[in-house]
Amino acid sequence: MSDDSPLIQSLRTAVAAAPGDVPLRLHLAELLLGAGQQDAAIAEAAVALQHAPGDAQARALMTRAMGVPAQPPEPMPEQAPEPAPEPPRTGFDWKAAETEVGDLLPPRFVEAPLAVDGSGDPGDAEAWEVESTGTVRLADVGGMQEVKDRIEAAFLAPLRNPELRRLYGKSLRGGLLLYGPPGCGKTFVARAVAGELGANFLSVSVNDVLDMWIGNSERNMHQVFETARRQAPCVVFLDELDALGAKRSRTQNNGMRTTVNQLLTELDGIDSAANEGVFVLAATNVPWDVDIALRRPGRLDRTLLVLPPDAPAREAILRYHLSERPIESVDLGKLVKVTDGLSGADLAHLCESAAELALLDSARTGTVRLIGMKDLLAAAKGITPSTEPWFAAARNVAMFANEGGMYDDLVAYLKKRRKL
Ligand SMILES: Nc1ncnc2c1ncn2[C@@H]1O[C@H](COP(=O)(O)OP(=O)(O)OP(=O)(O)O)[C@@H](O)[C@H]1O
Ligand SMILES: [Mg+2]
Repeated sequence: MSDDSPLIQSLRTAVAAAPGDVPLRLHLAELLLGAGQQDAAIAEAAVALQHAPGDAQARALMTRAMGVPAQPPEPMPEQAPEPAPEPPRTGFDWKAAETEVGDLLPPRFVEAPLAVDGSGDPGDAEAWEVESTGTVRLADVGGMQEVKDRIEAAFLAPLRNPELRRLYGKSLRGGLLLYGPPGCGKTFVARAVAGELGANFLSVSVNDVLDMWIGNSERNMHQVFETARRQAPCVVFLDELDALGAKRSRTQNNGMRTTVNQLLTELDGIDSAANEGVFVLAATNVPWDVDIALRRPGRLDRTLLVLPPDAPAREAILRYHLSERPIESVDLGKLVKVTDGLSGADLAHLCESAAELALLDSARTGTVRLIGMKDLLAAAKGITPSTEPWFAAARNVAMFANEGGMYDDLVAYLKKRRKL
């Protein structure tokens, strides 16, 4: 990290050289905490606890680093008004639903039709597809060191250590919300986290959960989590979480509330025995549209910005997309330089276009030739970063709606790139 003091830097080196030295590591953690690097301090304390699970000093430090009061009370939202987490619903409030959608749907739909999608009874073969433990690990994610460090500190380190999990069970519940411009690796990172945890991966787009029929969206949501519980350890990845944002949806507006509440119920149950081994990650391109009730402590309270790939990441991505194409004398270093700002998806598109150029050329001249730097550079010229519109929108949010420092990472990046 760039802003480390010289003392912290040399302690880091010392700790790297003697990873089993618990007092040394705790000293480093203490300094990190003092320097306001809470996440880094947690990560160090976690490793210390792995070496010495019973160490009182390590535990005390961890407690402080996590900002957990000695006897953690139920984490509570700071402001009262917005919808309190409702107790688990026992029945569906048809009356309220009817008034809510009265002007959108004719009354004959009031009864929740079962199996409208023709998929048969609920509860038969899994409706949601679970990928078995994948082979993608964080090490396969090229570059993006900061993202990896934060995932390690905020998510993996505490989870890996059963001692810690018991100690901080309450405060460790809840999930991680990945956000950032499209095509920059959110889904990829989430899959890698599942790989790290040795967990199955259940990826659902919130849009697929939503159903126009009253009551079905909640049932779908419940089924997603039931499936995950059956397949535990399992990472539930909720993509396009913003689809639940009440702000944007016009057609389904009030009915959405009950779906959000269902999700809250599932999330709030995440530390109960039934949810052992169920981890929740979510992603969105528009975090400012995500229902704030979902971001309260104990829910999706930790956020992680996934930015366009840095140089090592671009190299990894380009290497991957060129691996099965006929190329010659490709100077990856140069290509990485000229592709600054492109997303993973843009890079894939670039390789595709370069192949097309070479193919057309071969067809025109009648002599087959391989894909070379010429094609790749020409393709790169023709591509404008697809993330530009996202940054234009994000800029406004960073300037005017950075409540509670939620978008500090974004602000820092925009400043660094002189976009703010
Ligand atoms: N750091 C990386 N290393 C290797 N490959 C990467 C990296 N980042 C992204 N990719 C690749 O880029 C592509 C796009 O990533 P992904 O689909 O995860 O983006 P996303 O943020 O989920 O996009 P969307 O917002 O459209 O859902 C993937 O094919 C992934 O393999
Ligand atoms: Mg995605």
